[in-house]
Amino acid sequence: MTDEERQRHIEERNARGAARKAERQEEKARLEQALASGQRICVDLAFSHLMLDQENKSMCKQLGYCWHANVRAAAPAHLVLTSMEGQMEEYMARQVSGYKNWKATVTPQPYIEHFADCQDKLVYLTADSENELQELDPDSIYIIGGIVDRNRHKQLCFNKAEEQGIAHARLPIGDYMRLASSTVMTTNHVFEIMLKWLELRDWKAAFEAVIPSRKRKQEDGDGEEQEGADDEQEQAEQQEQQQQQQQQQQQEPTEQPAEQQLQQQQQGAEEPAAKRQAVAEQA
Ligand SMILES: C[S@@+](CC[C@H](N)C(=O)[O-])C[C@H]1O[C@@H](n2cnc3c(N)ncnc32)[C@H](O)[C@@H]1O
Repeated sequence: MTDEERQRHIEERNARGAARKAERQEEKARLEQALASGQRICVDLAFSHLMLDQENKSMCKQLGYCWHANVRAAAPAHLVLTSMEGQMEEYMARQVSGYKNWKATVTPQPYIEHFADCQDKLVYLTADSENELQELDPDSIYIIGGIVDRNRHKQLCFNKAEEQGIAHARLPIGDYMRLASSTVMTTNHVFEIMLKWLELRDWKAAFEAVIPSRKRKQEDGDGEEQEGADDEQEQAEQQEQQQQQQQQQQQEPTEQPAEQQLQQQQQGAEEPAAKRQAVAEQA
């Protein structure tokens, strides 16, 4: 390498470093602004006891995806994690230990206590609501259920909102997109759809950006609908998860040593990106 080439290499490296630093500073400024005055989106983490071990871990990963989406978002939200305590807190500490440094509000309190003085602003998002969201109100506080249950706990969040006397609403998915199966989305997808809406103010664009193509009904050349092309992949993933759950239930009487469990969790945290995304999509 000539002196001239070496010099150019150093200058290019310095320029890349400076660009990365500027990007991080911009992200930091956007997130601080969001904490001060951004749209409040709360994830209700009060359901750890209703989830299996794998589902709790999947929930932790989904929270990680929410956080990374928020960091990258053009218009980040003020992320609020409520009921971060007990078992859920233990899972998070093991799976996503860096969450304590997130520019988000994290509290052991349930949302109904944390927002005690503005309960009239709470809107629980649930696919079971008859109320369809038109747009996001900057004064409202939207709550997403932090649960991975393959919808076996039917109407869980709807009933919770009704019992607490707080407003509820569903995303207007059906107005913009035909889905191959149910309109129940994962926690991180709901969060990401809302981020996209905050950026674009356009539900169709937000759904198209976030909802995986295999969840959509596709039209063939004659305009006839057919199931999403890679629906089989989703079924395979469902079967895999069911098998894991069955194996786990069979193993439960003989507990693994803590060290072995931790090692497995650490291995899980290093899964390749494609597998991570598949896990997050198992609602
Ligand atoms: C996997 S779902 C949980 C399903 C759960 N059985 C229930 O009763 O809500 C995770 C969360 O995403 C939100 N969600 C999912 N699909 C939605 C939709 N179509 N409209 C509004 N919220 C939705 C809800 O807050 C829900 O609690």
